[in-house]
Amino acid sequence: MTSRILTGITTTGTPHLGNYVGAIRPAVNASRQAGTEAFYFMADLHALIKCGDPERVQRSRQQIAATWLAAGLDPEKVTFYRQSDIPEITQLCWVLTCVTPKGLMNRAHAYKASQDQNAATGAEADDGVTMGLFSYPVLMAADILLFQAHRVPVGRDQIQHIEMARDIAQRFNHLFGRGRELLVLPEVVIEESVATLPGLDGRKMSKSYDNTIPLFEGNARQLRDAISRIVTDSRRPGEPKDADSSHLYTLYQAFATPEQTQAFRAQLEGGMGWGDAKQALYELVDGQIAEMREHYHALMARPADVEDILLAGAKKARDRVQPLMAAIYEAVGLGKDKPVAQATPRKKGAKLARFVSFRDSDGTFGFRLLAADGEELLVSSGHATPQVAGGLIQRLQHADAARAALRAAQPHYELVIDGQVIGRGPADEAGVDKLGDELAALAAAQG
Ligand code: TRP
Repeated sequence: MTSRILTGITTTGTPHLGNYVGAIRPAVNASRQAGTEAFYFMADLHALIKCGDPERVQRSRQQIAATWLAAGLDPEKVTFYRQSDIPEITQLCWVLTCVTPKGLMNRAHAYKASQDQNAATGAEADDGVTMGLFSYPVLMAADILLFQAHRVPVGRDQIQHIEMARDIAQRFNHLFGRGRELLVLPEVVIEESVATLPGLDGRKMSKSYDNTIPLFEGNARQLRDAISRIVTDSRRPGEPKDADSSHLYTLYQAFATPEQTQAFRAQLEGGMGWGDAKQALYELVDGQIAEMREHYHALMARPADVEDILLAGAKKARDRVQPLMAAIYEAVGLGKDKPVAQATPRKKGAKLARFVSFRDSDGTFGFRLLAADGEELLVSSGHATPQVAGGLIQRLQHADAARAALRAAQPHYELVIDGQVIGRGPADEAGVDKLGDELAALAAAQG
């Protein structure tokens, strides 16, 4: 069985080396594994929670799409899309919101962190907390569960969210599954082997510490400049360096083979100057990303091409999830209603069905119902007076009454009122549906 792997990328910032090593590179590699089907998307609806700046959301979305494509993601193999292009995600999000206990959301780390901060500053507990922030994990559960993902690679800070997605899925299955596992319980995947990359100052590389090294934005020179700003100790060239306490070494290691890393360590311990070490790091990194960076800039210069790729991805994703979404709607009672006397909306002034009275050659009075296209749907038998025939027409003038008066028979349905056969109806089921539609339209036109 192929295993489905899915992850989302929040679109608020510009990708840096830390994102590349920690998320992009492992995800692109994972997508190339045989037997896996990968779904990667830009979590732009999540971005709205954290960022109220439309231009930044838009720009970041573009940069991230171009980054992943330039980094080797093959949109033919991977389903690559924007969350906001998949309306089924928001549909499922609401259904899940209705089964998610509020108490579960009260325990979410991000929400609790806001509350703790408010407590510390003496603000009201929910100050600055939107429903978006509060419900963040539900939207994330919808992202995952809609695609029936088996494995979700994320950072450690997201583990709780995957556990919540499992809880929510279980609850939904219990309430609405009728014994079926409509929603698949996802497993969290934490890549132990990918180190979190240190930034310029040695703390975790992060936009919020302003210590990042850009990935593709800018050019080789800017990469070199950023690397030259990496903080080192004050040992001079010729003095032995301690590789293990140097985050420059950690950065080097993230891009090097074990052999290269060994050699670099030996050089540092042998007294290589920090300037040369930075040059070595720059050459190593630039050697790996220069070509991708060029590709990135080419993609950024052709936004319409990227748009086409993303829309194709969205189509692939929607084709994939629509059957499950329909089953979920069906399970909660929002399925398509059965075609019972369903009115087909008609254009104003369109032709309607009509009852036509006639007098037979034997002197009796009857009527026909002719559809807008002239098809004969009902023909009554003869009655003694026009009043009797007219009374029957009145009784039949509602879709449900006419349907109720039909009894399956060969070769036509029989028209039965008060237990008496009073005429013949359509020849088949399709005719019965048409009768219902025509009468509904007639009733609607009469207001
Ligand atoms: N919340 C995730 C993050 O900040 C991004 C994300 C949104 C996600 N939806 C997801 C990750 C679904 C995995 C699966 O990193």
